[in-house]
Amino acid sequence: MHSLQTPTSDFTLHHGQLNAQAVAELAQSFADLPVDPYIQGDFRYRCYSNVKVQGGQVLRQPTKTFMQSSNINQYLGDVERRYQEIPEQSLHSQAMTTMLKDFQAQCSLGDDAVIEIHQIRIKTQSRDATPPAPEGVHQDGFDYLGIYVMGSGTVEGGEVMLYEAKDSAPFFCERFADGQYVVLNDARYFHNAAPVIPAQGQALGYWDVVVLTAHAA
Ligand SMILES: [Fe+2]
Repeated sequence: MHSLQTPTSDFTLHHGQLNAQAVAELAQSFADLPVDPYIQGDFRYRCYSNVKVQGGQVLRQPTKTFMQSSNINQYLGDVERRYQEIPEQSLHSQAMTTMLKDFQAQCSLGDDAVIEIHQIRIKTQSRDATPPAPEGVHQDGFDYLGIYVMGSGTVEGGEVMLYEAKDSAPFFCERFADGQYVVLNDARYFHNAAPVIPAQGQALGYWDVVVLTAHAA
């Protein structure tokens, strides 16, 4: 793991890699995600849970609806969204536990901090580019954000892009290998992911990602 610096900041992001065994353990669960009912079409699949990490243990917190203001998300802002919970087996997998503990440490979150987990699959068909984030360059409305790419072998594209401002050129643009991740200051930076298309010779492709968000304690 190493930290990246931009010309104008000190701590800002961490960039790292989960081990392959942990990635493989969680990777298969993306096939079971239900379709995201709040988006037109069937290109996004999603589960959502809230947890605390106390004494190294992942503790599921009561379900709540997920809502972003229209200032943050012009596409689905002010829409109260209710998603299925992440199943126990995935929530307590080695990969998820590692992600959550690392995220907690990197963001200096206390035991009472709630970490929100979005497990997301983007499906792409034909050669039409599918944007993982239809809202474009955006912030999630939290203090901390982690983006963990867990499966990208069947697509092209999907580069993770980070910006100093909504209308600036990205200062970071990288196609992540499976298990690669970035943790960043969501209040400071904007992010986006490049559209995905099926890999050469494939009719269908999947881009699998886990997104973690939290507010500072
Ligand atoms: Fe986002």
